[in-house]
Formats: sequence, structure tokens, C-alpha cells
Amino acid sequence: MRLLFLGDMVGRGGREAVWSRLPGLVSDLKLDFVIVNGENAAGGFGITEDIFTSTIAAGADVVTTGNHVWDQREALVYADRHDQFLRPANYPAGTPGKGSGLYIARNGARVLVANIMGRVFMHPELDDPFKAAEAILHACPLGEQADAVVFDFHAEATSEKQCFGHFVDGRASFVVGTHTHVPTADHQILNGGTGYMSDAGMCGDYDSSLGMDKEEPLHRFLTKVPRGRFEPAGGPATICGVGVEISDRTGLAEKIAPLRIGARLQETLPEFWA
Ligand SMILES: [Fe+2]
Ligand SMILES: [Fe+2]
Repeated sequence: MRLLFLGDMVGRGGREAVWSRLPGLVSDLKLDFVIVNGENAAGGFGITEDIFTSTIAAGADVVTTGNHVWDQREALVYADRHDQFLRPANYPAGTPGKGSGLYIARNGARVLVANIMGRVFMHPELDDPFKAAEAILHACPLGEQADAVVFDFHAEATSEKQCFGHFVDGRASFVVGTHTHVPTADHQILNGGTGYMSDAGMCGDYDSSLGMDKEEPLHRFLTKVPRGRFEPAGGPATICGVGVEISDRTGLAEKIAPLRIGARLQETLPEFWA
């Protein structure tokens, strides 16, 4: 199975780059399943229902989120209406929406996708992400109810991301980190067969600070005083993500490689899909 994950779309530039390129990628690379993180798609903060549905229309099977999930307040309402919308699973019981779902890929495979948030340097009050993953895997184990299992682990600390990867190694097809908006070069297959990458990077303008216009964040670092709002950087966007070839027999990762398309970073496509 061919699975593509794209990191956090940031602002209009990021989302329009994904919308324009994703349909071609789905057909050219013969993708079976696509996951896109959308937590920063609306002006850098959250995601509206219109942006969510347009991302699904462009070819995403699931949209994941993270700490910015509720920045657009309408998400608190539409989260319950859309099966393909995920918020972090380890929010308290009673939070709108859901943190995981089982979906059918284009090749017929049953794909369990879960969105989980880390706690280190982020939100220590969240439920334990490791226990949340354990419960999700227990309810829908790889090789039984699921033919593939994917975690979007939305976290700040690479230590927590790596330990999460090891925790589910052999029980998940793929673990990808999001949230730092910078792609890492540590894509690999862990000892138990789980594909892993600490961060997928963002889909946005890399002439920026995390996709936002660099003037305001730099000003705040220099003076500690806010001068204006954070606005998404308006230059050409680069799409960043990762492709994983998942065994139809075992549900584990066979190949993994980054994908980068766009103006600023060195372009690369998974060569095994060429
Ligand atoms: Fe983000
Ligand atoms: Fe985030």
C-alpha cells in the first residue's frame, strides 16, 4: 500500500499548494491513502470547515490536527460531523470530535489513523499519550481489525517522538511527527518494522519562522514586545511530507522516504514510487 503523509499546511499559500499538487500526486504516484495535517491551514491558526472539505476534495482521506485544532471555533461544531477529521485523541473525555478512525484505502485496505499529542514542552495536562495509543491499538490491532496503522504524533520534543515510535514499534505501520514545521532527516524503519520520521515538516513558505512572516517573531525575540499579529508568510510554498510503502501482507513498513516539492527546499520524491 502506498501512503503519503503531508505535514502541517500553513495559511493560504500552504493549503493552495497542497490543493493544486495533491490530485496529480495521487494519480501519478498511484497513492492508496493520503493524510494531511491541517492545524494551521486557516491564517496559521486552526482550520475552517470549508478548508477541511476542500482538502478532502483534493485527495486527502484524513485530516489530522494538533494543538491549534480549536483556533477556528467552528471546528468545535463540525468536528462531530466529519468522520475524516481528527483531533488529538488524548484530550479529556467529552471533547468534541474524535482522535482516531478506521478508513478504507483505495486498494481496499482498512487503515487505522490516530492523532495523538505529546506533552513535553506542550500541554502537560493532557492524558498520557502512551496510554491513549495503547487503548487505540488494543481496540483495533494491526493484522486483525486493521491492515495498516498510522499515528500522527503531534509534539515538540524529539525525545518524546522517538520514544513513542519505539513504544508502538511492530504494532503500527508508521509513526510521523508533526508540529515543529521543520522536516527531519531521520526517516527510517524501526527494528520491529514501523516506519518512523520525527517530523514531516510543513506545507508552507520556508522563508519564514515556522511558516509565519518572520518580521513579527524576530521582533518579539529581539524586544520581548508584540508589535503586531502573526501572519502567514506570503511567498511560494514548499510541500513537505513522507511516503511509506506498507506491506499488504504484514501491515509493516517496507520503504520510507521524504517528499519535498516547491520553491525553497531541495526537491525529492520517494524513488521507489518513480
Ligand atoms: Fe503546526
Ligand atoms: Fe502544532
